[in-house]
Amino acid sequence: MKEYQTLHPHFLHGADYNPDQWLTYPEILAQDPEMMAQAHCNCMSVGIFAWSTLEPAEGQYHFEQLDSIIENLAAKGVKTILATPSAARPRWLAEKYPEVRRVNKSGVREQYNTRHNYCYTSPIYREKTAAIDRLLAQRYGNNPNVILWHISNELGGECHCELCQDAFRSWLKKKYGGDLDKLNHAWWSTFWSHNVTDWDQIHSPMHHGEPDIIMTGLYLDWRNFVTYQTTDFMKMEIDTIKSVCPNIPVTTNLMWLPQNVDYHYLKDYIDVISWDAYPTWHEPDQVRCAVDTAFNHDYFRSLKHKPFLLMESTPSNTNWQAVSKLKRPGMHRLASLQAVAHGSDSVQYFQWRKGRGGSEKFHGAVIDHNGKASGRVFEDVKQVGISLEKLDDICGTKTNAKVALIFDNKNSWALSNASGFINTDKKYMKTCLQHYKSFWKRGVDVDVISTGEELCGYDLVVMPMLYSMDPSQIDRIEDYVAKGGTVVATYATGYVDTTDLCYLGGFPGNQLKDVFGLTADEIDSLYPTDRNSVLWDGKSYPVVDYCELITPTTAQVLGSYGADFYKNMPALLKNSYKAGTAYYVGCRDTGELTDALYGQLLEQLGIQTYALPEGVSVHSREGYLFVENYNDHAVTVELPGIYRNMEIDQVYNGTVSVEPYNIVIVCAQK
Ligand code: GLA
Ligand code: ZN
Repeated sequence: MKEYQTLHPHFLHGADYNPDQWLTYPEILAQDPEMMAQAHCNCMSVGIFAWSTLEPAEGQYHFEQLDSIIENLAAKGVKTILATPSAARPRWLAEKYPEVRRVNKSGVREQYNTRHNYCYTSPIYREKTAAIDRLLAQRYGNNPNVILWHISNELGGECHCELCQDAFRSWLKKKYGGDLDKLNHAWWSTFWSHNVTDWDQIHSPMHHGEPDIIMTGLYLDWRNFVTYQTTDFMKMEIDTIKSVCPNIPVTTNLMWLPQNVDYHYLKDYIDVISWDAYPTWHEPDQVRCAVDTAFNHDYFRSLKHKPFLLMESTPSNTNWQAVSKLKRPGMHRLASLQAVAHGSDSVQYFQWRKGRGGSEKFHGAVIDHNGKASGRVFEDVKQVGISLEKLDDICGTKTNAKVALIFDNKNSWALSNASGFINTDKKYMKTCLQHYKSFWKRGVDVDVISTGEELCGYDLVVMPMLYSMDPSQIDRIEDYVAKGGTVVATYATGYVDTTDLCYLGGFPGNQLKDVFGLTADEIDSLYPTDRNSVLWDGKSYPVVDYCELITPTTAQVLGSYGADFYKNMPALLKNSYKAGTAYYVGCRDTGELTDALYGQLLEQLGIQTYALPEGVSVHSREGYLFVENYNDHAVTVELPGIYRNMEIDQVYNGTVSVEPYNIVIVCAQK
């Protein structure tokens, strides 16, 4: 059953379109829609930074140009995703109302500058935003060519102004039920005599104030407040729009992980998840890049367990990465359809046309400064458009993952600010990606989920370095294993709760000790040149960074350390807990140990895997398979069964050949 995400039940293909930058170039505006049709684009995101055009002076609104832009696009079959303009305030607004400008972490109110930097608490900013949003909704809410609202742009960052400080204090009062004793306990504030005796003594963590890493309870509450307040601002925009036009779905474009806003909180208020993907293709380790991108796509799909939208990507290079590398032939198609393979129902770009000036004039675009609807990049884009038309049956289909990997943004805040272990880099993200890669390289679909989610539908749950866990999250893991689930955890699991208070009575916290049948008594951090090993099943696997010293209670020891004073002590353990099984990897390996473990588990659990060449992955959406080759050479992939190519007239029996940087999409033949 298809589940359509927008008012347009086909793959969306298009870009951010900024005609407001080109209003004095009517000949260019006249060419754009026709060129879009030639590029097989069917959708543009319009108006994202257009506030100063729509309201050039306070209360003076001009929508006539936007009217004709939406109409001209529609005349060429191009739908509009209409943005609210709040991400970039007009200069007049910031000059007249200083409170809308953020106060930075040094306590300095910023001058008018850049974008994405308004105070999300400011009543004036909310009022001005709501006013223009309401007018947009009234004017375009019944326009059949507007298929989706794009709320603001890349919400994030933080403001330390007095309005935000007050809002933080109110949020804390609510969280702790007005009880300062509770707050002081949660923040362990007798440490260094930091006890709070009046709510007004509380300030956000700042450069000249409380550092992030000293009172981590304060820091984590601040992050949660920033998430809450950012979402509250977004909700204000959504409520304004929906009060006028309840039928057009809303989205906001999210960003690459990890983030300072917890999307698991924000996600519930939008109808469709969308995100902006800017991988560093052709970096020295192309497979790392492919895995990282895949992980992000899976995270965004798993937020709602529904298809998502790729809202931005570049047709060639960016202007802001360290090296602005061009995509090699094939890479644009592969990157675009990789998103589709992971559940995207769109391929959208930043941007349609390169601006003449400003910092993004050298950012990749469908139309370059030469103004031509031709050339390598244009042709790549057009071919993706043609492919998406051929793949239309796949739009709306779901991913059915049997494996879940728990990645928690809040855990990443807690770990990166924990003083201890290896302070230079805790490697949480890298560890998650390393575990994830074992599934990627075997063509196993994975949901990347948060700690708060239902686990019972999964055959295998992987939870790397889940240092910070709420007691209820611990209950959920216990329940999953008790009912027959299989879980894999690592060192540093369940050390602290969500305000960074250590669990008492031994790690991992609470019932996790019973689930894993062990206690993790100490953790050794290794220097970068230090090595240890794990001996398991007659093989030795390299170990780096962390080794826990573990005492098993009921767990069976599978592997033990090969060196140091803890030589022969347990490193890899398995415990039968009620109807399920819990594995514990007590050290950080370089990939081989966990990969071997996952190989065995996937086989035992009967989860389908593929024997794939290096740099190749397979993903599926209902009956459709996407075979991806990230190598600069062609590969032959074994695909047991008979499959039909979705784009060309070809049937495969047992093997599929994939060109360098290419993707083949097939459907199983009955
Ligand atoms: C972000 C923004 C866009 C643009 C691109 C450039 O994703 O949303 O407006 O700046 O980056 O890569
Ligand atoms: Zn503020």
